[in-house]
Amino acid sequence: MTNIGVFDTGLGGLTVLTKLVKSKKANYFYFGDTLRVPYGNRPKDEIFDFSCDIVDFLEKFDIDYYVIACNTISVTCLNLLEEKYKKTFIPITAGGIRGSKSYPGDLLVLATKATVDSHFYKDNIEGDGKRVFEVAGYNLVDLIENNQITSPKMDKSLDEYLNLANKNQIPNILLGCTHFPLIKNEIGKKLTYEANIIDPADYILDKIEANNNDLKIKIFLSKKSNIAENIIQSLIKFDYSLTYVDFI
Ligand code: DGL
Repeated sequence: MTNIGVFDTGLGGLTVLTKLVKSKKANYFYFGDTLRVPYGNRPKDEIFDFSCDIVDFLEKFDIDYYVIACNTISVTCLNLLEEKYKKTFIPITAGGIRGSKSYPGDLLVLATKATVDSHFYKDNIEGDGKRVFEVAGYNLVDLIENNQITSPKMDKSLDEYLNLANKNQIPNILLGCTHFPLIKNEIGKKLTYEANIIDPADYILDKIEANNNDLKIKIFLSKKSNIAENIIQSLIKFDYSLTYVDFI
């Protein structure tokens, strides 16, 4: 029996969970901090404090290892979490690096402010003629969490954030935030040329070790959200339980 903790600042990590549950049977415990999302514009010490709250909650379930289904937490807190909890944490960013390196040519990383400010992807991918451009999609997480995936605001924001890609026809776009697979179609429509849109989740599946006979999915959110319920229903095609927790 393998218990896997999966967490994100909100709904974004559900795009990762969706792929995990299709790929391996295990007991999955997902936590999304829908109360305090977004984290991406917050300072590093606050992101770490909030991440510890999440892991402290999940630790009750006898977790064998964690998947950090959030780029922002991965780039700011991976080492701190490993040090504090002495457990394995698989960061989604490992998939981001692998996915990006598997496509030749320049790359645009669309991510949160915290991820862009860390230059994690640029530092780990750029070289050998491959250039990495980083763009912070400041308000995208907020718009997604607030049910504005198809809205004039989303339209306007994506025009702005994808301007650099369109101007330079950058061949690869990395979804450097786990919320962004939820707007992959909207991103695709805004691009004026054909690009590879890379989802890091596709490149961590082989790191998941589990051989349970059954699949169990428990989802915990820190604030009731109708959009969350709709997204979970549309993404997760297996039985699951959803619990809202009073968290702080
Ligand atoms: N889903 C998170 C990520 O991958 C971001 C969220 C946030 O800003 O809260 O970076």
